[in-house]
Order: sequence, then structure tokens, then C-alpha cells
Amino acid sequence: MRLLVTGGCGFIGSNFIRYWLKKYPDHQIVNLDKLTYAGHLSSTFDFSKQKNYRFVKGDICNRKLVNDLIKETDIVVHFAAESHVDRSILDPLVFVKTNVLGTQNLLDAALKHKIKRFHLVSTDEVFGELPLHGGKFTEQTPYNPRSPYAASKAAADHLARAYFYTYGLPVTITNTSNNYGPYQDTEKFIPRMITNLLTGENIKIYGDGKYVRDWLYVEDHVRAIDLVIKSGEEGETYLVGGSDREINNLEIAKIILRIMNLPDSKIQFVKDRPGHDRRYAIDSSKIRKQLNWEPLFSFDDYIAKTIDWYEKNRWWWEPIKKKSEKLYKKTMQI
Ligand code: NAD
Ligand code: DAU
Repeated sequence: MRLLVTGGCGFIGSNFIRYWLKKYPDHQIVNLDKLTYAGHLSSTFDFSKQKNYRFVKGDICNRKLVNDLIKETDIVVHFAAESHVDRSILDPLVFVKTNVLGTQNLLDAALKHKIKRFHLVSTDEVFGELPLHGGKFTEQTPYNPRSPYAASKAAADHLARAYFYTYGLPVTITNTSNNYGPYQDTEKFIPRMITNLLTGENIKIYGDGKYVRDWLYVEDHVRAIDLVIKSGEEGETYLVGGSDREINNLEIAKIILRIMNLPDSKIQFVKDRPGHDRRYAIDSSKIRKQLNWEPLFSFDDYIAKTIDWYEKNRWWWEPIKKKSEKLYKKTMQI
């Protein structure tokens, strides 16, 4: 099998390739990545020399390049995106270019070359926010994106579904909650907290900190994608979430401080994110029942392992930390 993985130098894409090469050593993977500020070749060092892996630096919006690569592909696994909500508030245009036009470009090429499967990696943010107490997102929840990032991902989902209904392109989609784990950029909440503490800084909590996310260990996500590609039904969407209990941002900060043996006085409240979604929660019954997926990694164990990874892998995050804090100087969340 020949896979084209887009965005394989990012957080989830690099974890996906690492998992896939180990599990399917006879498959070929081409990783197409533009190496934006979020793409790190250092996230691929441990597998980059494998014979069945090839890196191509390029933009998913480049029609010729994408056509040439998809010509030799059986399955596309599409991760590449501008993925950070705070950046989308500052500069929405690049989100529309990559997340919408880039996805459409890939869909066109996939159709032309009759590929076997186009898997789109999407987000629960397309559904908007939930009240603090109440139900969860399901596959039937209407789309209601509230940030430029979420709106661009929603457009990509709609396009992918349109290519299934209109042209019969074998599309599957996963909408997933907040991932955490190794190789996540230091601009995101959990790695930002850990690396702030490791550099003597405070944890920065937006607003009142009573915002709830559904935390999923990245390897559980990657296994879900594997199952959907293998056994998911064409044209179907699967929601994937990890939390066995709901924890707000402030509680997560305190868990991390406890594990790192630091006092609660390291918590600093900063300006809130505009349009900040209050709560995300996912009902994963469909993928659990139909594909037998379940999360294997509990938050309490894997948050500790994630902290341990950042403690041991300063070589990976120290060079990128300055850039992410520069962003927060602009948003005044410092
Ligand atoms: P990331 O920001 O860590 O990585 C994105 C990667 O895409 C980077 O390597 C970047 O260089 C590459 N890229 C960006 N624009 C590109 C372009 N025009 N052409 C080629 N490559 C480009 O993102 P992530 O957190 O790994 O997220 C991966 C996917 O999963 C995204 O589609 C995101 O929307 C989705 N998702 C993420 C989460 C999460 O918690 N991180 C949750 C649900 C869904
Ligand atoms: O839900 C899935 C989404 O999760 C993905 O689609 C996105 O790509 C991914 O970035 C993530 O979006 P969030 O906006 O939820 O993640 P982020 O890590 O930016 O923030 C998580 C929560 O923590 C959110 O409520 C904002 C808050 N936060 C974030 C940072 C960086 C803080 O309180 N302080 C911080 O320093």
C-alpha cells in the first residue's frame, strides 16, 4: 500500500507516520509538508532514514506537485492544516488558503487518480461550543463553527463530503477532540504549560480557566484513524474523543503542578481568547460500537508520561519555544 500523508512533520502527522511504519513495515509513505512554523523535521528524525519513507517539502495548494504525488498513491491521509485557534484570530487568510483550498486541491487530484481512500483528519471545533453542563457532540450535531480556524475546517469537511456524494470519491472523516502527547508544538495548552514551568515561567490561564476540552492521547487518535481507514464505511464520519471524565483547564494546570512538585502560585490568569468556546465533549459511541475502538491511555497516566517526555526532550522543544511565546506577545496572553 502507498500512502500520501500530508502534514507529517506536525504533531499528529508525525505520530501517525511513526505508528504506521512500525505496524505496516511493507507500506510506502510519502510525507508532503510545507514546513510552516508548525512543521518540524526534528519530529521525524527517528524514522526519516527508513527505506519506505520519503519526505517531500511542498504546499498542498500546489496543483502540479499534488497531482504528481497522488498519481502514485493508494490512500491519502490528510493532516496538513493551519491548526491553532489563536493564530486564526490574528490572520484568518492563511487558514482559508491551506485548510479550504489546499483540501480542495487534494480532493481534485484524488478524484482524478481514482485513489482507494481519502481520509480527512478534522476537529470537534466544527460543532461550536457546548454549555458547561449538558450533552455531548455526536455525528448528528449541526455544524456551528465559531473561530476562523473552525470555520475553515468545517468548509473542508463539507467539501470532502460533497466529493463523496457528487463524484463518489471514497472519503472518510474523523472529527477529534484535543490531542496531547509527544512532539506537540509548545504553542498549544499542555506543552505550553509544561515548557513554561521547565523554563521557570508561570502557567498562563485564559479567562476564568473554566473551559472544558475532551483530552485524547495522540496514539489513541492514530489508532482510530487506522481503524477507520481499514474498516470505516465510505462517506461516513466518526467522532473520536478520549476523556473518561471532564476536567477544566484550571484543574489540568493543578494536576501538572502536582506532578512537577510545584505550587499553585505558578498559575497566572491572562486575557481571554475572543470567542472562546466554553466546552467540547465527544460521544464516541459510533466508532466504539461499529469499529470496536476505545481509548487505551488514561489521562492521569499519560499526562505524567507527556510531562516526562518534555523533561527528557529539551533538544526538541527548546529551539521552537521562543517562536510560540512571540505569538503570545502579540495576543497579549503573556
Ligand atoms: P500541527 O499544526 O502540529 O501540524 C500541521 C502540519 O501541517 C505542519 O507540519 C505544517 O508544516 C503542515 N502544513 C501547514 N500548512 C501546509 C500546507 N499548505 N502544505 C503542506 N503542509 C502544511 O497540527 P496537528 O495538531 O498535528 O493537527 C493535524 C490535523 O489534525 C489538522 O488538520 C488539525 O485540524 C487536526 N486536529 C488536531 C487536533 C489537535 O488537538 N491537535 C484535534 C483535532 C483535529
Ligand atoms: O478540539 C480540537 C482542537 O483542539 C483542534 O482542532 C485544534 O487544532 C487544537 O489546537 C485544539 O484547539 P484548542 O483551542 O482547544 O487548543 P489550545 O491548546 O489552543 O487550548 C486549549 C484550551 O486551553 C483552550 O480552552 C484555551 C486554553 N489555553 C490555551 C493556551 C495556549 C489557556 O488557558 N492558556 C494557554 O496558554
